[in-house]
Parts: sequence; C-alpha cells; structure tokens
Amino acid sequence: MMRRPEIPERKTLMLKTFSRFVVLLIASMTASAQPVAAFNQSTKIFRLDGGDVSYVFGVNSRGELQQLYWGGRLGANDHFPQAEPMREWASFDSSYTTTPQEYAGWGAGLFVEPALKVTFADGNRDLVLHYESHVVTPDGFDVVLKDIQRAVFVTLHYSMDPKMGILARSATIENREAQPITIEQAAAAAWALPAGNYTLNYLTGRWAGEWTLNQETLRPGERLIESRRGSTSHQANPWFAIQAGAPDENHGEVWFGALAWSGSWRITVEKDQLDAVRVTGGFNPFDFGYVLHPGESLETPEFYGGYSPDGLGGASRILHHYEIAHILPHRMGEGDNAAPRPRPVIYNSWEATEMNVTEAGQIALAEKAAALGVDRFVMDDGWFGQRKTDHAGLGDWYVNPVKFPHGLKPLIDKVHALGMDFGLWVEPEMVNPDSDLYRKHPDWVLNFPGRPRSEERNQLVLNLARPDVRAYVFGFLDKLLTENDIAFLKWDYNRNWSEPGWDQLPPNEEKKVYVEFTRNLYGILAELKKRHPKVEFESCSGGGGRVDLGILKYADEVWPSDNTDPFDRLTQQDGFTYAYTPQIMMAWVTDSPHWLNKRSTSLEYRLLSSMQGSLGIGANITKWNDEEMATAKRLIAAYHQVQRTIVQGDLYRLISPRDGSEFSATQTVNRDKSQSVVFAFIHSTQEGRGFPRLKLMGLDPAAEYTLAPIEGKAAKDTPETASGAWWMNHGLEMSDDFRGDFQAAAFRLDRK
Ligand code: GLA
Repeated sequence: MMRRPEIPERKTLMLKTFSRFVVLLIASMTASAQPVAAFNQSTKIFRLDGGDVSYVFGVNSRGELQQLYWGGRLGANDHFPQAEPMREWASFDSSYTTTPQEYAGWGAGLFVEPALKVTFADGNRDLVLHYESHVVTPDGFDVVLKDIQRAVFVTLHYSMDPKMGILARSATIENREAQPITIEQAAAAAWALPAGNYTLNYLTGRWAGEWTLNQETLRPGERLIESRRGSTSHQANPWFAIQAGAPDENHGEVWFGALAWSGSWRITVEKDQLDAVRVTGGFNPFDFGYVLHPGESLETPEFYGGYSPDGLGGASRILHHYEIAHILPHRMGEGDNAAPRPRPVIYNSWEATEMNVTEAGQIALAEKAAALGVDRFVMDDGWFGQRKTDHAGLGDWYVNPVKFPHGLKPLIDKVHALGMDFGLWVEPEMVNPDSDLYRKHPDWVLNFPGRPRSEERNQLVLNLARPDVRAYVFGFLDKLLTENDIAFLKWDYNRNWSEPGWDQLPPNEEKKVYVEFTRNLYGILAELKKRHPKVEFESCSGGGGRVDLGILKYADEVWPSDNTDPFDRLTQQDGFTYAYTPQIMMAWVTDSPHWLNKRSTSLEYRLLSSMQGSLGIGANITKWNDEEMATAKRLIAAYHQVQRTIVQGDLYRLISPRDGSEFSATQTVNRDKSQSVVFAFIHSTQEGRGFPRLKLMGLDPAAEYTLAPIEGKAAKDTPETASGAWWMNHGLEMSDDFRGDFQAAAFRLDRK
C-alpha cells in the first residue's frame, strides 16, 4: 500500500552532523554485498545502483535536486562533482528551465513540464522546490524538498531493486501552511535523458483493438500519453520505452517506465528546447484539483523506471521479471525468487452463454471443461439480480432465483466434485438505472445534480469515492465470498466516466474524486484480500481497459481484450508483452468462425495462439465433437507441462506479427535455461516461401537440448539433440509442409 507521508527531520539532522565530510555508504546491501544507495556528503550526490543500472542525482549549487545520470552501471569508484545548474539559453530560457530537475515546481520561469503546480490561498502560484534533507531507507532514499519560502514539503521516495535495476519513485506532498493549497498538477516522478536521437515506443488501442505498439522518432515538443477517462483506458496504456536511435528488439539502449495508477493518468514525453528529453508522469492534470488543508498530504502513485542495453526485448524481460517478483500478489518465495503460481487453466462461460446462464447449462459446460483438464470454472455475467440483458441488474448482487433456484451452491459443489475450483464475474463499480440499487440510491452515481447522466451500455458509474458506496461495494463482495466457496473473481468495469461530480464535497473540492475513487478501489481489494486471502482476482475492463502496475498489486491476472480472434491476438499479445508479463495475459480459445472477424481457424491454431499466454477455454464446448475434445485435452496437458517456462521465462520475440507480417514466432527460456518453448505462426504463405529458420536465443551454448514437437514438425534433417550453440547459431528449421493459411507449430527443448 501507499507509504505514509513522513518528513523525517530529526533523523536527517543526525545524519548531516555525523557524516559531514565522509562518503556515506548506505547500509542496504544486495545479495552480492554491493551497496545499492550511496550519498556523498561533500558533493551532495545521491547514487543508486541495481542490476546493470546506475541512477545519479545531486543537490546543485542553487539548492535544486538535479538529475545527472541514468543508464548502464558505473564503476564503484566513479564519482560526480557537485551538480552545477545548466546555463541559461540567452534571455529566453532561464537556467531553471534548462536544468533537468528531479521534481520541479512550476515557478521561476519554468517552461518545461512541471512535476508540481499549486495555487496558494493568497493567489500566489510560484513554487520553487529546494533540497531540505534526506534519510536513507532500506533500498534507497527519501529526499525532502521545500519551497524556498512557504511550508510546502515534498518527499521524494526512491527505491532501487538491487537485481533488476528498476527504480520505484513517488512523491508525498504536504501542506504545512496555515491555509489550504490547491494542487493542480502532481507527477509521481520526472525522468531525464540527455539530448540525442531517440525512438519513442508506446501502446494504444480501443475496445477489441488494444495493445498496438507505436514506434516514432522523438521530435521537439511534447507527446502526451494519457487517459482522461477516470480509469486506465484501452486508448493508451501507462507505459513507455525510449530507445537510443532506431527501434531494435535485441540491441541498443532502452529506458522504460510504467505508472502504477488505475485512474486518469498522464505521461508527457518532451524533447525540450535544447533537445534534452524529459518524461513526467502521474495524475492527469486535466480537470484535476486536489485541495490540501493545513497538515494534509497527497501521495502520488509510483512511477517505475528501468534501463536495458539489450534493446526492447531486454527491457521487457527485465520488466516481466520485476512484475513477477515484486508487483503481483500471491507470490511465494523471497526477493527476486518470489513468483506467483502459473494461472490455472480456466473455462469461462461468456462467449458460450452470454447472460443466459442457468444451473443446468453451467453444469453441462463444467462437465465438458473438466474432461478437457481445465483447472478452474468461471461463470461470467448474468447470474445476479434481474440480469437478462445489459439493460438491468447491475448493482443488485443477489443470486437470480429463477436461474439458480437453490443458490450457487449446487453449481459450486458440482464444479468442485469435477476437480476444478470456482470463479465468478462481478462488475462492482457499476449500476443499471433499472436496478433496485439505483431506485434506492440515485445519488450514488457520478453526476452533476440536475444535469443529464450519460449512459454507456445502459449503465452509470457508482461514485466509489463516497464512503457509503465504498462500504456497500465492500459489503456485498465480502458477503459473496463469505457465503460461497469462490476461488476467483473476474472484476469487470465496462465503461468510462462522464459527469464526474461528487456533490457531497464543497464545490472546490469535488475534483478529489479522481484520486479517492481509485484509492477506494485499491482499498477494497486490499481489504478483501486480507479477509479472503486465497481468493484471486482478474482485472477486466471490457477487455484491456484497466491494466497497469497499480491494479496489478491486487490482480493476479488481466483480460487483455474482448477480441479473442486467435490471429488478432498474436499482434495484441506481441504489444502486450512489451509492458506486461505473459503470466497475467489470459487468452481463451473460442469458437470458429470468430464472431468479430468471421475468420475460420483450426482448433490447433487457436490453442497455440492462446498458449503464448495464460491459457483458457471460452468456446461453447458442449458443441465440441470427440476429435475436438481430444485435441484440446492433448494440448492442455502439453501446456501444463511447460506453462511455467512460457509465462515466467525470458521472452524473445523472434519474428514480430506486426505490420502484416507473413510469419511470427516467439520463444521463452526458463530462468535456469533448462527448458525453452518455441511458437511459430503463419498468416498466409505467399509465393511458396517457407518459414524462416529460427535462430533461437537465450540458451546455454554449451548445454545439449533435445527438441520435441508440441504441435507440428521440424525439418526432416533436424537433429533430435544438439547444443544450445547449434540451436542459436544454426537455428530451428520447420518441416517443408509448414505452409498455408493460419498455420501454427510449437516445440519444446529440454536440457539433457
Ligand atoms: C465485458 C468483458 C467480457 C464479459 C462481458 C460480460 O465485456 O470484457 O469478457 O465478461 O463484459 O458482460
């Protein structure tokens, strides 16, 4: 959870006195006994080292906190002199604006993006933050800044991961003035890179079309990646990667970052007036206004940043491992060895039954699912209230007595008897106007009194920022989980905000809704996890509308898209994995022809596409014939054997499916390099071209690996066993008949 704000004056003072002219090596040690954080008192330089990364900033001679270095790890004896502010650029760009600050207040002629912008009660809007003090923390620093005159304090939190070099940053803003202040803009952190040529990578999309990777040359000016929608959004995802020079999957320096916030957010990427690059991210300043009364403080979300010298592939491998070891819930093990268990293979009823769920219908599906080797049966929308269509029922979380006359117990018992655990769909933050809840509490939704309330999918958004709404939502979920043996909730969220009023608060404070709504969402999840520690959660928002490192502290998995077309999914999965680990990337096999694109594909192709992530089945399996059942059963069993390698290993995107590629391929290698899994897909063979020979990556060159097909065949003369060097240098060749439309193959390699 969020750290409590703390302005640690006394400890800081002691530190300052004790260590006047000595270099302080901070006690926090990595496994390899290297210090991760060091402060040099004489030069006022802060240095953080982790993995192959160093991050350095210092107090410059003006008193500002100036960013100095972010990149490959420096030598232990390399030192920086005290930071000197950058010079002004003629009389138009002051030194205040040319100097890259760790966290700049808007004031003193700042023209680049500020980290913090406030209005004081007397109308003053000038904020200039200078270093005040710092303390060391187990894995970094808390550095306190203060306005040059007024009692606005900002504590910057830095926490460096010693193995992966990912730096977590956030800020606590505290008002110690006698009057309230209004925060109009608050970033979690600002990152800086020196002037140069860079490519910006970011992810955009829309419903059923999430996870498009965009790659563009970074040009002067500001690029906004943002959501103004109250939640993370399909439209853009809070992740970026900046590569030196042209985009390259396997080589070159990449700096990347991801914001842990599921409300409206913004990341600005600027190439400033001197061609230097700054990335600033946090709460979206659009329609933002957070009043801090005397003594109050505001915590920003965390902004994680990392660096890799090994291209975009290297960057995503670091990020995946960090998510697995440090972000996701339900981890077992310690430190970097911690990992959540691979996801159960699920069956989900949505595409089979939509809202027409009944006890008998669900049991029929469950029986078939169990026969396939599925681990978890999930009943989707339609089980509650008067939910027949999307016009009614949301908000009324009682079991529909017509569809389930004996409650959920008979179904849950049956699912258990079949050897699966049971999961259920909920959409807690929403209400249909046609519901008992809305009839009783029309004031509970986001709205401006007297104004129209815009419906989307016939629903309105409950104002979760309200204490009574929070209590209601927690209450019904707690009851549901207490009264039923439920292992999993798919937590959905099927629209964005409109008319975001919160009329319980004074007019000038209503905009707090942007922070408190999301805080309460996290709070409810945290409390539910405490009360029901075994229950797992999926974050879904009409597909991939709420995927970010904030929700992933509570959600064990996500639903990347309502688009389950297995060919579209290849590109979506490719984009998704730039920011997020396949561990959380749920992928169902659904029916063919597909409802969205009307495309027909073989069951093998659909299974292999889904096996790139965390496999699930979402088809109407009551209609599957014996052959289809046998194929799915065989491939689910094969998947179970190699799943951990696929979802938690090192991912190499060998051939991208983007830009209309004829072919695509991925490979994952587990952490100890004893196993690897390869997937290969053909869109449509053209002019007789065979599949390119795949030079594998990440294997131990000296070890011997045995190749076994999961689906498909290798070329006739492929050795059964060969060295890692052979597979990486010579490569894996597909059989000559691996041609056609929508073909798929998969192989495993096991170290002898
Ligand atoms: C959203 C989800 C789907 C399904 C429906 C149910 O669209 O993304 O998977 O749960 O809601 O209404």
